[in-house]
Amino acid sequence: MALDSRFLAELKGRNSIVDIIAPYVQLKRNGTRHTGLCPFHGEKTPSFTVFEETASYYCFGCGAGGDVITFVMKYQNLDYMEAVRYLAERSGMALPEEESRNAAYQRDKRQRMYEMHKLAARFFYSTLMSPSGKAGLDYLTNRGITRESIVRYGLGYAPDSFSALKDHLKSKGYSWEEMLAAGLLAKSEKGNTYDKFRNRVMFPVFDLRGNVVAFSGRILGDGQPKYLNSPETEIYTKGNCVFGLHLAKNEPEGTLILCEGNLDVVSLSQAGFTGAVAPLGTAFTKEQARILAKYAKAVVVAFDNDSAGLKATDKAIRFLEEQGIPVRVLQMQGAKDPDEFIKTYGKERFAMLLKSSKTPVEFQLEKLKAGMDLNDTAMKLEYLRQAVEVLTGIQSAVERDVYVLKLSRELGISSDAVRAEVEKGIKRKKAAVQRKEIRSSEQEIAGTYDRVNPERAGALRAARAEELIIAILVRHADLWQLAEEKLPPEQFVTSFNRRVYEFILSEYRNEPDAATPVFAKAFDDKEMARISFFINTSVLHGEPEAQLLECVEIIKSEGAKRVDTGALTPEQLMQRLQNKGD
Ligand code: UTP
Ligand code: MN
Repeated sequence: MALDSRFLAELKGRNSIVDIIAPYVQLKRNGTRHTGLCPFHGEKTPSFTVFEETASYYCFGCGAGGDVITFVMKYQNLDYMEAVRYLAERSGMALPEEESRNAAYQRDKRQRMYEMHKLAARFFYSTLMSPSGKAGLDYLTNRGITRESIVRYGLGYAPDSFSALKDHLKSKGYSWEEMLAAGLLAKSEKGNTYDKFRNRVMFPVFDLRGNVVAFSGRILGDGQPKYLNSPETEIYTKGNCVFGLHLAKNEPEGTLILCEGNLDVVSLSQAGFTGAVAPLGTAFTKEQARILAKYAKAVVVAFDNDSAGLKATDKAIRFLEEQGIPVRVLQMQGAKDPDEFIKTYGKERFAMLLKSSKTPVEFQLEKLKAGMDLNDTAMKLEYLRQAVEVLTGIQSAVERDVYVLKLSRELGISSDAVRAEVEKGIKRKKAAVQRKEIRSSEQEIAGTYDRVNPERAGALRAARAEELIIAILVRHADLWQLAEEKLPPEQFVTSFNRRVYEFILSEYRNEPDAATPVFAKAFDDKEMARISFFINTSVLHGEPEAQLLECVEIIKSEGAKRVDTGALTPEQLMQRLQNKGD
């Protein structure tokens, strides 16, 4: 059952969008608009705008937008019901009866999933510490992992058995269905269920509240897959979790070390580098960068010393810099990863590497230089060209100049000449960006990349009038009956706008006191952004009623034109052709 309109209208009324957003985004007021730096993409000048009048927000930089519910969903990474519950609790409202029963069921289901993971982690741990866990304990000991680290990370051992965990969880009252859904059991073709993790050292994955939400199991020795991971479940989304962050987030220095492997994390922290984290079996994601940015003052990227690691480093730098967080790059020689490095050279040497870690620009320049012979004139010029390209990406003029001087010294070329090249490159880039902006705004006007409202391009005048009507109704609830009377939804030309219009009418019909319609319950992310865009940018002038009637006329005449010019569905067209044949 959907939540009723009255409840949602009150919820929205009690949670002002400015109050909700202000703790996370520093907003500057300008009339009823507030602007700040967008929390959903990295930017230096504010294009994120909160509109009090329509109780919505829109980022003119990345196109994120919506209302207070959308914001909470996106920012706190909650689903729709969770966001509603959060806002309800915050404003002291009780959820309506029926809905809360369903929510309670869902919550209970998740709760059981958490409990089951906790029990499984305990089971793996106690197995590791028992005689039957000898193989696992030997493996860890051989790799230099101490008891203390085992306890700290809650490591364990999944015995070489098809039913040990299954039987254990069964005895605790969990069903096979639940275990399957948690990814702890697998199912054979014949339909038999069995323990998914067998004869592996188990690394529990914790969320930031300290719940076990998944496992990563390493094979003892060689074999495939080296690490077996839990699937995504109701409590676990891969790209949203960072291995080790539940501990590393308390790192007093605030510097996190991002490495590739689970074992790197354990080894590093055992050696005293307690800020170690890893992305967990996937490539590092934007979402993970966003999460790290919340907890770290700076991040040192210490990926594996191979070509895949170098590539991944580029991406990690990009994602982290987008979040506005200082990044450095640690490079190792003579070892493949931090775990191996510490084992071979000791923690003091690693501390030195950490100290001498490079800025992203230094890292890029060194990567360019590798394999180039700078005594060869042609290569030297090629290096200069590519290095200049890197320098044009630096925002700060002072920082840029530091590298200009360095480069000029290194290549024996006057700093003026290097600087002139960089300036030229920056101009070129700016021009390219402008060309791109013009192109994309032309495309937008032509509607060629409109996925939310694909009909808009072919019916621009009507669509604009439709959007204006919607913008008026969001502000002037009292006009809904007039609108419905003059313009039944069927007459809308574009079906997306019609859906929005129908939604508004039904909202106002159900809840005449609603301040603004609660779109978030019926429209997805992209649709919310679009609605938020046009309700806040459509130009309102003069008397709303008169303007509304003007729009009605435009839509009617555009609609009539379309029928005349044969903008018909294939069925209508067939009909018409057949009639002609008669
Ligand atoms: P690596 O292959 O670099 O492993 O994978 P590692 O951490 O150095 O492992 P050890 O030292 O041999 O034990 C890095 C990370 O990629 C994920 C794991 O999270 C691993 O820690 N991975 C790797 C998988 O998820 N599955 C695999 O089969 C391999
Ligand atoms: Mn390793």
